[in-house]
Amino acid sequence: MLRPIEMSHHMLAEIIKADDVVIDATMGNGWDTSFLAALTSNVYAFDIQQEALYSTKKLLQMKGLQAKLILDGHENIDKYVSEPVKAAIFNLGYLPRADKSIITRPNTTLKALEILKEKLLPQGRIMLVIYYGHEGGEEEKAAVIDWVSTLPQSDWQVMRYEPLNQIHKPPFLVCIEKI
Ligand SMILES: C[S@@+](CC[C@H](N)C(=O)[O-])C[C@H]1O[C@@H](n2cnc3c(N)ncnc32)[C@H](O)[C@@H]1O
Repeated sequence: MLRPIEMSHHMLAEIIKADDVVIDATMGNGWDTSFLAALTSNVYAFDIQQEALYSTKKLLQMKGLQAKLILDGHENIDKYVSEPVKAAIFNLGYLPRADKSIITRPNTTLKALEILKEKLLPQGRIMLVIYYGHEGGEEEKAAVIDWVSTLPQSDWQVMRYEPLNQIHKPPFLVCIEKI
């Protein structure tokens, strides 16, 4: 069975065509950026940590791929991306093996989602892989679930994909599609 992150990639691979504009809102070590860069030449990836840009650049070079790596918060997407967007992915939480106090936060995550809501093309998708076991994670999870739950069903499909029998707090996936 697919894990939530694998399911998010599956849902994105279904719709992304070469040259589509897509966004990795939380670059981290670049696993999602490189996945997207193998599908299209128009990837914008955001992170607020220089370390993330170093790791991602290295990974892309190793794989012979390219992406636009931006050292800024995803709440500023509209400063960098003027085109309509086909897809975006968020991995909420902190960068593994780095400073665990640098986490995604509800206000900036929701600001980015508000921007993407307008920029997304019809049939475009946003994947949110929600890690919430860390301090502050529950608040962000609640804020995101509240936000997606208010999207009108006439215009949006919203799905949740989640392990139900695991101890601890495993990540789960929220998929949003503009109709
Ligand atoms: C769970 S990690 C992402 C993992 C990544 N997708 C990968 O493939 O390795 C979350 C990342 O979000 C970044 N982040 C936190 N706040 C951010 C913001 N406002 N804008 C963009 N990135 C942010 C963190 O620095 C961290 O690298």
